[in-house]
Amino acid sequence: MTVESVRPEDATATAEPPVAGGAVPLLGHGWRLVRDPLAFLSQLRDHGDVVRLKLGPKTVYAVTTPALTGAVALSPDYIIAGPLWESLESLLGKEGVATANGTLHRRQRRTIQPAFRLDAIPAYGPIMAEEAYELVERWRDAGGVLDITYESFRAAVRVAARCLMRGGYMDAHADRICADLTTLFAGMYQRMVVPLGPLYKVPLPANREFNRALADLHVLVDEIVADRRASGQKPDDLLTALLEAKDDNGDPIGEQEIHDQVIAILTPGAETVGSTVMSLLLVLTEHPELGDKIRDEVKSVVGDRRVAFDDVRRLTYTANVVTETLRLYPAVWILTRRAVADTELGGYRIPKGADLIYSPYAIQRDRRSYERNEDFDPDRWLPERSKDVPKYAMSPFSVGNRKCPSDHFSMAELTLITAVVAHAYRFEQAPDSDPRPRIGITLRPRRLMLRARPR
Ligand code: HEM
Repeated sequence: MTVESVRPEDATATAEPPVAGGAVPLLGHGWRLVRDPLAFLSQLRDHGDVVRLKLGPKTVYAVTTPALTGAVALSPDYIIAGPLWESLESLLGKEGVATANGTLHRRQRRTIQPAFRLDAIPAYGPIMAEEAYELVERWRDAGGVLDITYESFRAAVRVAARCLMRGGYMDAHADRICADLTTLFAGMYQRMVVPLGPLYKVPLPANREFNRALADLHVLVDEIVADRRASGQKPDDLLTALLEAKDDNGDPIGEQEIHDQVIAILTPGAETVGSTVMSLLLVLTEHPELGDKIRDEVKSVVGDRRVAFDDVRRLTYTANVVTETLRLYPAVWILTRRAVADTELGGYRIPKGADLIYSPYAIQRDRRSYERNEDFDPDRWLPERSKDVPKYAMSPFSVGNRKCPSDHFSMAELTLITAVVAHAYRFEQAPDSDPRPRIGITLRPRRLMLRARPR
């Protein structure tokens, strides 16, 4: 089925999508989305290509096929809004690229895009390699058990900040940013699936902790901007582009927009890459033979010198391990949109104002799209096999005008880190490790504690 065939020629469909089974009074399907969202979303396609869910008082439309999720992502009838974004607004603000729509969003994409273009990435190579080797050194000196949540998020924050905002001040801030984001992303998921608005204002310890983390992150971002201004420097980086950006009238953009933009880039950058590094390291403990093959590939491509950014495109097996990790453990595992017009999807009527959700996790694990769908098989990304993957069945960075600007940046970073650490170490889980999925706004192992054994 092509995207065109599911886009309406006329919006005359009158059928309502079926309601998914399993709703309970008050919380609707929210309780299932809190208790076991991955299993719940993964079976929704058995109920229909589009199904209705009740989240508290709201009705939400879940889209379950690759073709229809592609149609939603590419259609101008659906914008960034809805439960996920409402829950994220207190963090991301309304004026950053991740939450803006329409002309503001287009202008902001134009401002940030040059920093992420394919030809801009090699300049970040030395920083990415330095940070990857810093992990190897840290882990050698650490002895004992490594807290991989901390290690992964720290590396992700440092790479994003050093490449895009070139600041030594980030070294002092990285720990606080990581701690704040962990609290915020867990709390926001709950606010999305059980939208009980005023209850989250009750001064319970969890709500107080959430508010403290939120306030601290905003202070940190103001410090980052103030530090750069005070330095008087204007390096050729994303922060300079944001500080120098002009609005549609040619006037400098406001302080709030600058603030929201920094948050809207640093936050998804840290959270998604940090989560994916954790999933990658978990995979290496569960399939040690993958690490051995990566080590062999690094030896044959790079020899005895250090891995450099220029090697990345020849590390194809390593890249396929990264891709397969993104398939089975997509950090962005749930997405939402809102219909801005009465429209039609898969033969069903979608009313203006409707909230839609879909899950890259469910789509990318669907047995209808992948043979041995639950198996970790990097070779399924060999060119002769990957051509059989249905369109939009593998979109961990999404498609369309909201596609992650950082897809090339992230793939380069993740491939480099994986090559460097798997070449240096074998990984084993320590007894207090808990690799079960932690469901927040992003997906990652809950608590990963590893021993790194030098090869
Ligand atoms: C948007 C995934 C890394 C910045 C997105 C979206 C996805 C995604 C799926 C689209 C959201 C939607 O359609 O609603 C990922 C994954 C990453 C990653 C899987 C790594 C494994 C990064 C990094 C940065 C970044 C490193 C920045 C340093 C952004 C921004 C947006 C975005 C600013 C909003 C784009 C817009 O709305 O126009 N990302 N991302 N991402 N990502 Fe990423």
